Amino acid sequence: MCGIFGIVTKEIQNLGPVLISAGERLSYRGYDTVGAATLPKQGDIDLRKDTGKIQEVAEKYNFKDMSGDRAILQLRWATFGAPSQINSQPHLDSDGDLVGAHNGNVVNNVELMQQFREEGMTVRSENDGESCVHAVERYYDQGNDMVESIRMATKDLEGDYSFVIGKVGDDRLYAIKKGSGLVAGITEDMTCIGSDLPSILPITRRIVRLYDGEIITFWAGGYEITRVEDGSKITREPEISEESIEVAQKGGYDHFMLKEIHEQGQVAGELLHMLDRSTDLDQFLDKLQGARNIYLIACGTSFHAGLLGSVYFNQLAGKAAIPVLAPQFAAQYGSSVGPKDVGIFISQSGETKDVLNAIETAKKHGMVILGLVNVVGSTLTLVSEVHLPLTCGYEISVPATKTYCNQVLTLLYLALRYGGHDTGVLHKVPEMMDITLEEISSQIKPAVDKLSEWDDLYILGYGLTYPVALEGALKLKEITYVHCEGILSTEFKHGPLSAVSDGYPVIFVSGPDDVPLIISGINEVTCRGGHVIAIGFEDSRLEGNAQETIIIPDVDVSENLRPAILALLSVIPLQVLSYHCSLSRGYDPDFPRNLSKTLTVD
Ligand code: M6R
Repeated sequence: MCGIFGIVTKEIQNLGPVLISAGERLSYRGYDTVGAATLPKQGDIDLRKDTGKIQEVAEKYNFKDMSGDRAILQLRWATFGAPSQINSQPHLDSDGDLVGAHNGNVVNNVELMQQFREEGMTVRSENDGESCVHAVERYYDQGNDMVESIRMATKDLEGDYSFVIGKVGDDRLYAIKKGSGLVAGITEDMTCIGSDLPSILPITRRIVRLYDGEIITFWAGGYEITRVEDGSKITREPEISEESIEVAQKGGYDHFMLKEIHEQGQVAGELLHMLDRSTDLDQFLDKLQGARNIYLIACGTSFHAGLLGSVYFNQLAGKAAIPVLAPQFAAQYGSSVGPKDVGIFISQSGETKDVLNAIETAKKHGMVILGLVNVVGSTLTLVSEVHLPLTCGYEISVPATKTYCNQVLTLLYLALRYGGHDTGVLHKVPEMMDITLEEISSQIKPAVDKLSEWDDLYILGYGLTYPVALEGALKLKEITYVHCEGILSTEFKHGPLSAVSDGYPVIFVSGPDDVPLIISGINEVTCRGGHVIAIGFEDSRLEGNAQETIIIPDVDVSENLRPAILALLSVIPLQVLSYHCSLSRGYDPDFPRNLSKTLTVD
């Protein structure tokens, strides 16, 4: 996704520390390259950039000594152009008078670069952030002012992005929002913009929200918003944000991932509290009750939550809810859906482009759009007829953990309500999550040691635990870089079993009702020399057949809910296992290579 930050202050001052701490707060958005620029009234722009994380690049290029009254910072998650110094942002225009940086994707970048070269501009990189700068240069050099040049440039720049840009000899900066996050903060002496709220909150709580199709011109202590469409001005007063800053800090944990895993019980409690009182929930359920077909549409981890939700709906509500990967929605169902159908779009960020594309398809066919979303104010919250917030607070770590659990819990709650069941028992879940975390933490060391010897493994589940296997495998591969596949346990014998050799690790996640079936699967592996780690409630049959077990403490709920709750809890050992396997390989689980928290690209 990338992160951008821009600031204008009244006096020239040492802006380096401000840039570094904004960069640290935005670091989850991109860590392929980092760059900063300060803009003088006269002379050369001071541009420092390279590959690496914010701390490394800031140290190497001495960001802390950068001074000025205007500055731009960018953290890049590479899409166009390899992560290299030349492709790092910010970028200069041909003469070095304009400097800008973007977040998002300019999809016609290659064609534009060709045009810019043919027009005689100096193109230095392959990166689409540079296209944003040249597109503005193109119209600025024709005599237009900056705002007009940006408006005209947006007609050339296809895609979803935000960018910030400034020029030498000016006292302001300019930023535009078109599809990617952008928010402004203002004090008497300063105005800044950032890709998200946490990048700004430690500087000021007086914030100005920006919407797609808006350009903000900002100077120390002031700003003006212009509509791209017709150039008209928009009056929007700042608001005071009540968001907590601490939630975006590690709070004593070594990594955000560990902190977020430990927050799961607490945020589950907050979610239930909210759902019990929500009038939106009633509206949400009304839409579901009236639906011909319900689709659960999402990507990645959110899709796995949807998959588990579909089993809950089937088993607890007697209603089919069709899970579908968002980018497949048009191909699989685009021609068969209509106004009687409901799509539940599930997304942590609410900005995933694949999900937004599926919403476009759904809207075109008149479907009802519902959202389960963590980031309040995100596009998904705006386009949904009704949305339920996941109440997780910021999830900074790239691997989704607490948002997955709250997505699953919301779907369980909805399935129970849809099926006319009481949801009161779910109030035991937060404590069960805490107990599970505590009890499994001492059990996973042998599994971590075992997995450190292999770069290849499978995680198998069945029925309710099949989505858990997929999610566990995603977590593990995402932060350890090993090949780990999650599949339905019964499918293993149809092909992947051939991978098993002496000591080959296979993890089975077993629901309480599926133990006999899982035991067959376990023995198909162990008799071929494979090494099985079984996860489930205490059961002598699992312990007697697998080489290792990770036991989830049993739960005091009715027999028909026990498997549903096991499915919710059994992801926790897989999260913790993935975390420790990542550390044992020397990786940073919060920021896995090549990945980004929010994928605003196709
Ligand atoms: O923000 P979203 O929930 O829409 O993101 C979808 C996926 O990119 C996301 O769940 C991804 O798979 C996780 N970060 C993996 O841990």
